Amino acid sequence: STPTTTAIIDLDLPGPTISRHVYGHFAEHLGRCIYGGFWVGEDSDIPNERGLRSDVVDALRAIRIPNLRWPGGCFADDYHWRDGIGPRDQRPRMVNSHWGDVVEDNSFGTHEFMDLCEMLGADPYISGNVGSGTVQEMSEWVEYLTRGDDSPMAALRRANGRYEPWKVPFWGLGNEAWGCGGNMRVETFSALARQYATYARNHGGNELYRIAAGADTADYHWTETLMRSFGDLAADPAAPVAPFQALSLHYYTMSGDWADKGSATEFTVDEWYTTLARAHRMHELLTRHSTVMDRYDPHRKVGLVVDEWGTWWNVEPGTNPGFLYQQNTLRDALVASVHFDAFHAHADRVVMTNIAQTVNVLQAMILTDPDSGALVLTPTYHVFEMNTGHHDADALAVHLRDVPTLTAAGRELPLVSASASTTGDTALISLSNLDAESGRTVLLDLRGRHVIGHSARILGAEGLGAHNTPDRPSDVAPRAHDGVRPSERGLEVDLPAHSYVTVALELA
Ligand code: AHR
Repeated sequence: STPTTTAIIDLDLPGPTISRHVYGHFAEHLGRCIYGGFWVGEDSDIPNERGLRSDVVDALRAIRIPNLRWPGGCFADDYHWRDGIGPRDQRPRMVNSHWGDVVEDNSFGTHEFMDLCEMLGADPYISGNVGSGTVQEMSEWVEYLTRGDDSPMAALRRANGRYEPWKVPFWGLGNEAWGCGGNMRVETFSALARQYATYARNHGGNELYRIAAGADTADYHWTETLMRSFGDLAADPAAPVAPFQALSLHYYTMSGDWADKGSATEFTVDEWYTTLARAHRMHELLTRHSTVMDRYDPHRKVGLVVDEWGTWWNVEPGTNPGFLYQQNTLRDALVASVHFDAFHAHADRVVMTNIAQTVNVLQAMILTDPDSGALVLTPTYHVFEMNTGHHDADALAVHLRDVPTLTAAGRELPLVSASASTTGDTALISLSNLDAESGRTVLLDLRGRHVIGHSARILGAEGLGAHNTPDRPSDVAPRAHDGVRPSERGLEVDLPAHSYVTVALELA
């Protein structure tokens, strides 16, 4: 018989709310993310509205994209926003030195991005330039975007065709300041973050949530130094946090190393486990960064924003190495589900995350064919779609018993990963079977509420490297799962090898 794992869930004990912003996105001027991905221009044969691909917008609306980070990444600290406003044919050009050394014509700029966010129904998260910009430049960008009267920048915006100010809730202060964003020491950056944050002002009713460029992976010293820069956060639990409100964290998953990251589609069972063990590391990273933050901020007022995460593979053979285009398999889907389980478990500190990146770059939701323009939804897209029920729901703790583990990449990897949430009259349970070879039954021991209905969906495929292409767009796509049975304590759920299952409950 199939081995059983038990998952105990107290449906009547809701925890912190999982912000919908945990399901956020990231679009950089990199390869074919913006150009060819989101933006095709008004004259394109590809159906578009004001130059923005309609199929991409529709697909992202379907997963209720909550926010979009732009213009980078490393590109953000090279970007000067005034180059991207005014008539498109008169905009100055620049070199995108980080990504392929190509010439950027700035045809996609502030107005195009804000138009995109409005079409998507997503909140903009703009990454301001600290590395090569000035305090005045950033300050004026905020004014341009958000000010309503006849100030100089509001007048310039109006001259460029937009009368009403936009709402911009999220503002980044630099990106990877320890690397491409200026190669700074954290002491230097802490001082700059305070200075830039001061001049990134709230105008009218627009209140910015300012996010300072945070640590890479396990750089706890970076987090600690930024936290120390706040002064006394413990004294008054009600006092607002200033001058910035959150720190970021970046962490990428690969099976190899930075020199040879591994293939997206051709991998061994060992590489499967190495990848998932490294994805599972997100639990440890969040616990340890949060512990550092707790020391300075016991009331948990400062947010942690994981604004870059996901898989980073060797580029698809034959594509530009600077464009970071990669395929996306069932393995990527499980990397995403494991990350979401970690984010849900830390919902009290993790206020937002942004997968890198949304279209045609790294762990994308959407791939578009450069020749035919055909659009493919990736296995990762489907995890985002299957998890929409977690948006703004209250986290439920999942206590797992009898979970097999193995050691990969020097880490212990539990082969079942799970999380759950409730909205009051519904609950959603996410279950990942990371075992490459064996199926498993999970006994859901559901306590505290009456379950009056259930349904389940599954994302799986025969091969570990299964993926979608324009010719075979649905090799990895969710379907109804009939492997669920009522049991004395709740429900029994069959998890085939390497599969992702969501169980939706109706509660009395
Ligand atoms: O997402 C690709 C790049 O990865 C980003 O530009 C940078 O911030 C990170 O190193």
